[in-house]
Amino acid sequence: MSEDSEALGHSLWGGRFSAKPGAVMQAINASIDVDKRLAAQDIAGSRAHAAMLGATGIISAADETAIQRGLTAIEGEIAAGVFAFRVELEDIHMNIEARLTELIGPAAGRLHTARSRNDQVALDLRLWVREACDRTVARIATLQRALIAKADAHADDLMPGFTHLQSAQPVTFGHHLMAYVEMLGRDAGRFADARRRMNECPLGAAALAGTSFPIDRAMTAKTLGFDAPTANSLDSVSARDFALEALAAAAICATHLSRLAEEIVLWVTPQFGFIALSDAYTTGSSIMPQKRNPDAAELVRAKVGAILGALVSVTVVMKGLPLAYGKDMQDDKVPVFAAFDALELALAAMAGMVGDMTPNSSTMAAAAGVGYATATDLADWLVRRLGLPFREAHHITGAAVKQAESLGVELAGLPLDALQALNPGVTSDVYDVLTPRASAASRLSFGGTAPDQVRAQAQRWKDKLK
Ligand code: ARG
Repeated sequence: MSEDSEALGHSLWGGRFSAKPGAVMQAINASIDVDKRLAAQDIAGSRAHAAMLGATGIISAADETAIQRGLTAIEGEIAAGVFAFRVELEDIHMNIEARLTELIGPAAGRLHTARSRNDQVALDLRLWVREACDRTVARIATLQRALIAKADAHADDLMPGFTHLQSAQPVTFGHHLMAYVEMLGRDAGRFADARRRMNECPLGAAALAGTSFPIDRAMTAKTLGFDAPTANSLDSVSARDFALEALAAAAICATHLSRLAEEIVLWVTPQFGFIALSDAYTTGSSIMPQKRNPDAAELVRAKVGAILGALVSVTVVMKGLPLAYGKDMQDDKVPVFAAFDALELALAAMAGMVGDMTPNSSTMAAAAGVGYATATDLADWLVRRLGLPFREAHHITGAAVKQAESLGVELAGLPLDALQALNPGVTSDVYDVLTPRASAASRLSFGGTAPDQVRAQAQRWKDKLK
């Protein structure tokens, strides 16, 4: 760092100071290594602010033109990777302003009229989180499309449906995948809700109390794509609930991804053998030559740790902070960036894995018939055909399961006389409902597992995501 730039950084707020910050002070205070990711948002905010200052006559047209020209040059330098970020200039706001001063001279000093770094950073982070929400919603849709395509192609494939991870009732693989499409649809809805609430512009709140300059907050809000300016200047600079809400949505979404990831981890084991992943999403072991490990799924499963951690981290930073701005709030950025980086990567990896997975239909179908999975179908048959109360049918079916267990067969393997011994009304067409295929096909209730239902739900989602 040159003596010059040090003096410059200092000069942005150093009027009443006679000594430079110490090394440790600089280390704890500087945020440029992190908030340089806000450069594009900071420049967009400055452009809008300068345009407003020009339009209201607070600064001259010539100064505004010079500022816009300087900001364009800075944008170019950052894009080209030649912008020198300086730690002694603390943060992205002062780095850009200092460079603007170097480029256009004293007119740069007019940009900060009626503005503070407090409303500036509140704006930058809002813009960043808003974009992150939009990117995430797009990535969610990509994953949903991958799931829907797989579900549609495998709407007829049987698999065991589990509760307690015990065989419960046969379901279809398509139905199982479509369950995640629903979850992800709600996740996208949560991001959209958060976006709607966050879409008010804090710029113009200045340090905390507003400004005596005749600014036009509606103009900057509109320029930056907000619905309106925020209505309380204290709240504008101290609110971070927009980030908390987005992080909460991210944590819930990551929870859903971790559940699917866990299922993939189970399904690819030789013991389950329900699906295969290609080399693209698996790795080998350096000692065990037979291994094909689902690392990508395991890492997606893990991401909820960092993402939920980010929500907890920012919540605790904000808890108990008196109004208005406190420097504590500078520490919101690391977790926010980390959480969205992790979520976007997890969504991309999951979309890739879903597209990549090959279901092993015969293994899944065989597993669907194991564990007396059609017991409910037997009980339902007794109710429907013999008019028994469900509780009595449940009891008889329990006895049938017990007998099948002792004979070492599935329910469809029980001889008719064994079933008739439990209730003389049983006829041979009971066997029609005891296969997993008949069981799944019969569940045509809205949202049920029958292939026709699955195809209908897949079509509904395809239309929705168009
Ligand atoms: N780097 C700061 C942050 O991220 C910007 C706001 C600083 N404001 C101040 N008055 N020190 O929060």
